[in-house]
Order: sequence, then C-alpha cells, then structure tokens
Amino acid sequence: METIAPKATGSYTDGLRSLDSEVRVDSLALEGALPEWLQGSLLRTGPALWEVGGRTMNHWFDGFAMLHRFGIADGGVSYANRFLESTAYRAAAEKDEIAYSEFATDPCRSLFQRVFSVFDPKISDNANVNLVKLGERFIAMTETPLPVQFDAETLETAGVAYEVPGLLTTAHPHTERATGGMLNYAAKVGPRNSYRFFHLGPNADEPQVVARMPVKHPSYQHSFGLTERYFVLAEYPYVVNPISIPLSGRPYIENYRWKPELGTRFWLLPRDGGEPLGPFESDPCFGFHHVNAYEEGGEVVADICVFEDAQIVEDLYLERLRAGSPVHRPDVRRFRIDPGQGIGGGTDSAGSVTWERLVDDGFDLPRINYGRCNERPYRYTWGVGVGDSGWFDGIVKADVVERTTTSWAEDGCFPGEPVFVAAPNDPAAEDDGVLLSVVLDSAKGNSFLLVLDAADLTELARAAAPHHIPFGFHGQFAPA
Ligand code: CO
Repeated sequence: METIAPKATGSYTDGLRSLDSEVRVDSLALEGALPEWLQGSLLRTGPALWEVGGRTMNHWFDGFAMLHRFGIADGGVSYANRFLESTAYRAAAEKDEIAYSEFATDPCRSLFQRVFSVFDPKISDNANVNLVKLGERFIAMTETPLPVQFDAETLETAGVAYEVPGLLTTAHPHTERATGGMLNYAAKVGPRNSYRFFHLGPNADEPQVVARMPVKHPSYQHSFGLTERYFVLAEYPYVVNPISIPLSGRPYIENYRWKPELGTRFWLLPRDGGEPLGPFESDPCFGFHHVNAYEEGGEVVADICVFEDAQIVEDLYLERLRAGSPVHRPDVRRFRIDPGQGIGGGTDSAGSVTWERLVDDGFDLPRINYGRCNERPYRYTWGVGVGDSGWFDGIVKADVVERTTTSWAEDGCFPGEPVFVAAPNDPAAEDDGVLLSVVLDSAKGNSFLLVLDAADLTELARAAAPHHIPFGFHGQFAPA
C-alpha cells in the first residue's frame, strides 16, 4: 500500500484520489447550527484506495472500502474513518498486490491460475457500495454474496454477516415494514440461472428465498423496486452468460453485453411467492437506482434513474475520470405497468409499459423519505445532478407531483448522495427534515459534511473533515 498525499487541484478529480490516513476527531470545526433533534451518526462506505503494489485499479467501483462516521451529538460533529478490514483488503495489504477480483479489476493471473480459479474463484468481500442496519447489526455490502458486519462505534470489522442465496446480489436491500427485516435480490448462477428475492429477519442468520424466476442470461441489477405486493425487476438489456465469466480472462463487469434489441423488460414478482407477472416490454435503457415504486389505480408505478444505454459503466473507469472526462447525465423516468395484462406470466410479451420523463433536471443517487414513503405514492426525492463540470456537482430536490426541481450548488464543490433524515414527532410534511451530504471542496482540498433544510435546500450547517473523502456511493443515518 502506498501513501498518497492529497493536494488540492481545484477539480473534482481530487475526489478520485486515494486516501490512506485513518483518523478520529472529536470535534470538527462547525459553521452554522444543527437542529437540536438531530442526534446520531451518518455512516458511509465507499472506495478509498485504488493503488496497490504499483498497480492502479481500473474502475471507480473497485477501490478498497473505507468506512466513515460523522457523529452528531449536542450540536457538535465528530468524525472517524477506517478501512473495512475485508479479506480482500487484508490480502492486498499483506502481499502488496491485488489478490481478489473486483468489479472491473482482476488480479494478474496466468492461464493456469485462471483455470484453477474456476474452482476457487476468490470472491471479494470489499463492501464499498452501501451499508444497512439490520436489527442491531451494521452490515456493509457490495454485489458479491459476502456482506460484512462492522461495529458502528469503532468501525472495526467483524466478518461476513450471512450467506446470500446466490452469487450476485445488490447493496440496495429494502426494509420489510411488517418485521423490520431485509428484502434483497440474488442471482443464482450455475447450470441453471435464476433471479431470486430473499428475506432476512432482523435477528436471523439464514436468508429465506421468497420469490424466484428462471433466467438464461441475467441482466445486471444494482437495485430493485418494492410495492405492497410486488418486487419490481427492471431487466435492462445489459446481460451476461455467467458460465463464461471464469474463463473469459476479463474482469466481472466486462463480461456483460449491451443488447438493445432485447429492450428493457419489467417483471413483477409477487412478494407472496406467486407466479411472476411479465414480461412488460419497454425501450432499452440502463439504470443503477430505483427511486421508489408503488401501486395506484391498478397500476404499478416505478420511478428509476436511467441512462440511454450502459455507457455510464465505461464512463466511470478511473483513468477517464481522473483525466476529467465527463460522465453521462442521468434521466429520471416514471414507468407505468398494468399488472392485469401480465397474469399467467410466460415468455410471450404480456403487455407494454409506458414511460415519461419525471422532471427535466436529471439526477442519480436518489433518496426519499423512506420510512414514510417507500412502497407508497410520494411527492419528494433528492439526488445529485451532473452539471457543467461533467461530474456530480449539485443537490437536486424534485417534486414529482408538481414536476419541478430546486437545487443547491456551490462553486468548486461536489456533493455526494443526500441522505434524508426526517424530523421527529410525526412531522406534517413529507420533506420536513434535513439532508446530510458529504461534499468535496476542491479549492480547499478537503471534504465537509453539509446539512441542508430538506424542504428548501437552505444551508443549516457544515462541518469540515480533516482530509478529502474519496467519492463514495451510499450511507445511512443511524439515530442515537
Ligand atoms: Co447504488
């Protein structure tokens, strides 16, 4: 592992530099004032180290996971960060080389080693995408079946949390309202492939598969929608023949193929385990993040941040990003599916899907007032938009009823996912609360925690971190 001294360049590319210092700071310099009710921790994971043994990983998604915690108590903010001590990270630290396959980076292997790796695939547990609280456990996740438990106070790594019933999964599980348990996706691959959805109780160790359907060439899935009765699966035409991965000699994601002729096919898998409904065919597109989904007037509505194609995956290769190459702008679309047309399932097209652009200003990394609105009709979502900088440079609030947006931006500042925290005591309005976002200040060369009023995006406070925080993906607020 190498030391990379961060140096401000005034560009967003600072957020794509590795960070190798681990610190604990009791009290960050704070401007503004925090609401008294805001007590707890913003916990985040994200890639932080892309250089190992003289080699640089290929993709933004490949970097070794670091955990970050902004602790908010009594009007002050503390900060701590620590690498997730995954098996993949420890192996790299010990050998000073990349030892496990990541999203778009493989270890250097001879042909003999590649053949051998079919039997010993060395699946990475580098959980750098998202984290969740399940019961009393905190679990960091990526798309491999090895979620990693950690201590939210010390940020110490505890080990693999449970076994996912499949080889691929998402780092975007949903919460089951009735039990507080977790619902997530898994793709089982082997001689026969299938899409699966599973449930894990708040205190359980063994996931139960609750819905499934066979598939020949699974589509890449980063998240899914949930309604009162259905799992919403958007089968983008970005597909893989899993059996070809081990011997292809190419990293995981480079085995996926863009096949627009397939279109995007929606499936509704009943949460009670009934027969899947679909396919509902729509135009080809590709997306990472479902915003929300719900049933209304006999229709299933699914709002998703999408791109015209899967080019965004290419955009996010590190070499391009560090060279300042702009990324494609996401679009937010509303898809409407009539499940009545799909009863019986099968391979024939069951019905079409209509879609429309939800708002003019696209964004990604969407958040909603999850506790109140997930699975239900809703009005507000918050995300990050790509502006003139070619990178994520503004926080966007969308009113999906009025179809309007408002935004927050500051010169030279690059915000991450805005996490919505609802005000307590049953607030009257859906947007009554704050947004927490980790922002890179490229002029100063460090990051800060930004606290905005979620209703009007006015700034309430900011707390400066002692270093730059490499751009990450997701996190959660854990109330004290
Ligand atoms: Co994500």
